[in-house]
Amino acid sequence: MEREYWGSKMGFWLAAAGSAIGLGNIWRFPYLTGANGGAAFVLIYVLIAFTIGFSVMLAEFVIGRSTKLNPVGAFQKLKGGPWQIVGWMGVAAGFIILSYYSVIGGWTIKYILSSFTGLISPNTDATNYFLNFIGNGPQAILYHAIFMAITIYVVYRGVGKGIEDTCKILMPALFLILVILIIRAVTLPGAFAGVEFYLKPDFSKITGQTLLAALGQAFFSLSLGMGAMITYGSYLGSKKASLPQSAATVTLLDTSAAFLAGFVIFPTVFAFGVEPGAGPGLTFITLPKVFAMMPGGAIWSALFFLLLCVAAITSAISLLEVVVAYMIDNLKWPRHKASLIIGGAIFLLGIPSALSNGAVPINVFGMAFLDAMDYLASNILLPLGGMLIALFVGWVILGTAKKETTTEGEFKFQPVWIWICKVIAPLVIFIIFLNKIGII
Ligand code: TRP
Repeated sequence: MEREYWGSKMGFWLAAAGSAIGLGNIWRFPYLTGANGGAAFVLIYVLIAFTIGFSVMLAEFVIGRSTKLNPVGAFQKLKGGPWQIVGWMGVAAGFIILSYYSVIGGWTIKYILSSFTGLISPNTDATNYFLNFIGNGPQAILYHAIFMAITIYVVYRGVGKGIEDTCKILMPALFLILVILIIRAVTLPGAFAGVEFYLKPDFSKITGQTLLAALGQAFFSLSLGMGAMITYGSYLGSKKASLPQSAATVTLLDTSAAFLAGFVIFPTVFAFGVEPGAGPGLTFITLPKVFAMMPGGAIWSALFFLLLCVAAITSAISLLEVVVAYMIDNLKWPRHKASLIIGGAIFLLGIPSALSNGAVPINVFGMAFLDAMDYLASNILLPLGGMLIALFVGWVILGTAKKETTTEGEFKFQPVWIWICKVIAPLVIFIIFLNKIGII
């Protein structure tokens, strides 16, 4: 079987940015910013993204392009032995994350439609509406199924015709919708208070917890720690793309999308005098309430949830692709069979997540199933994976790493990058990890 490759450098960048820009940017980043005091959090986030985030992403690109294999195959080829476990953890994380990510992706589809059928109305209690919907088992499963079907279809079509072509259309569309929504938001009367909250740093709000939240968020948002960027890097063929330049571009696109999403949320929320620190409900509860007070609110709401849906789909395909690439490379399955069977299995694992938000009490370790899956992946598998990837590149394949990052020209920051991979990133990630599992 011929391995597939990206058609162009731009196609690769848009696909990788598509993976990175997701629910993490448009849903999670604004509510974390709201809960952590606004601009000061943004500043710290940007700093972390461009140092540790950029470095781990570049490390993943190096592993991917130098082996042209999925994460398991890549670690087997470069070193083997216990290092393979890092690849396995990545494939498992892709499987687990997509199972619940798709449930939330399904909510965005439902909310695009609901915008026109009663959600956006002064008579609707947005809180009840949301809780009733996510607590309705058959509905939650139905929208999860629709979201998974779209994801499977894209991956089924392949790297070039599926992932690359889809991202080449959806990513420019995503930025266009963002810009339209920003223009609407900042021209609302009273929007300035939101801009001020967002841009005026209050450093008294910065604590150790804020730092850790920013670190965890950078990791999730940049799609790091499970080999998604290894897999996408492995589709770089003869078309010359500089890896440091690619990692910088993708980090910049991802950070811009998150930063811009804040310019939609905060001006809108402040213009209508609503609290921005509402936590995860900020998107699915607070915003519909605000849209209901706006002229033409149904259309703005539909456009916003379309943005969220597009962002989620281009991320979901990267999660599925990691597992599918493993089946293709290592087990020699044809792509069609791998995408249908793995996609179907992930759909099944998602059912308890879809049901666990009020329909059926499915709890693991005292958490709803969906939250337990997120805890396992985001707090354990991703940080451990990221730490080991950085160590691997910094200590085990340093020669390859030096070569891969300079084949297309000078890489000025190479010594800094190597230092971050060897010591700083592993240390910092280890500290977050201990914190997340409650040891410090
Ligand atoms: N980065 C995506 C987001 O911000 C989610 C995502 C896609 C992801 N692929 C990943 C997270 C791989 C971690 C690892 O929503």
